[in-house]
Amino acid sequence: MDVFRGKRALVTGASSGIGAAMALQLAAAGCDLILVARRSGRLHEMALRCSEAGAAHGIECEVIAMDLLAHDAAHTLHRQLRELDLPMDILINNAGFGFQQPLLALPLNDHLRMIDLNVRTLTALTHLFAADMVGRGQGWILQVGSVAGYLPIPGMATYAATKAYVVSLGRALAEELRPQGVVVSTLAPGGTETEFSEVAGQRIEGYKKAALMSAERVARDGLHGLARGRVVVVPGMLYKSSVGGARLLPERWLTRLAGRVMKD
Ligand SMILES: NC(=O)c1ccc[n+]([C@@H]2O[C@H](COP(=O)([O-])OP(=O)(O)OC[C@H]3O[C@@H](n4cnc5c(N)ncnc54)[C@H](OP(=O)(O)O)[C@@H]3O)[C@@H](O)[C@H]2O)c1
Repeated sequence: MDVFRGKRALVTGASSGIGAAMALQLAAAGCDLILVARRSGRLHEMALRCSEAGAAHGIECEVIAMDLLAHDAAHTLHRQLRELDLPMDILINNAGFGFQQPLLALPLNDHLRMIDLNVRTLTALTHLFAADMVGRGQGWILQVGSVAGYLPIPGMATYAATKAYVVSLGRALAEELRPQGVVVSTLAPGGTETEFSEVAGQRIEGYKKAALMSAERVARDGLHGLARGRVVVVPGMLYKSSVGGARLLPERWLTRLAGRVMKD
């Protein structure tokens, strides 16, 4: 991750889980940071920890507490960073959530909120910061998707569909922006030990618990993949083979199986 030393990264969803782990690892690699999420207290704690992790490099870490679901959040954030004269070398598009509920068991607005954060805000941030990076001829964007992006999941359909969008967008932009000096990688993790399942209302027990990866490991794989210019990174053999197997199974079986595994 030497390539990130002396650079500046914007990490969304940096108050917990995978985003927090990435922030710490980028700090240790000597990267300045802008940490974004809603919980200001948690972000300030993270900023302290990042400053300690990056002390040898004298890194700088700023906190912006904001709701990325607020109207025009991506433009507001982009404008704020411009006014502070803080150009971004790296964008980590990580903030996201999903509810595990059948379509009609959730109010429509909850489905729309998932789409707004996981798809709309992610796309807006990508557009705004990619334009700046192309202008400078260099940049790195890491889109946090999911193995759910490869599997339609009955009982979690909207979330899986938002992540299919992220995977598709990331793979296409990797080709589109490479000639202009911008690396785009997509991280597609499987089950990871974070606050995600609490927010999603998931029960994680038995074999599902045993299959959880640590946020640190997932973050490390994602950042190494970004540094090496990998188009898609799927951490862990179990999840790599799930994505590979998904391509071989008939579509209807695959969808039923995904629904059953998530429901158990
Ligand atoms: N954990 C898994 O099993 C798993 C698997 C595959 C993919 N993922 C993806 O990994 C990414 C990170 O999730 P995680 O597992 O690390 O879960 P997490 O611990 O719940 O972290 C989610 C982060 O997103 C932030 N966030 C949520 N809503 C926000 C909003 N409206 N505005 C600003 N920030 C917001 C949260 O901060 P605040 O609450 O402070 O705002 C938090 O920092 C997500 O995109 C998720 O879909 C997770």
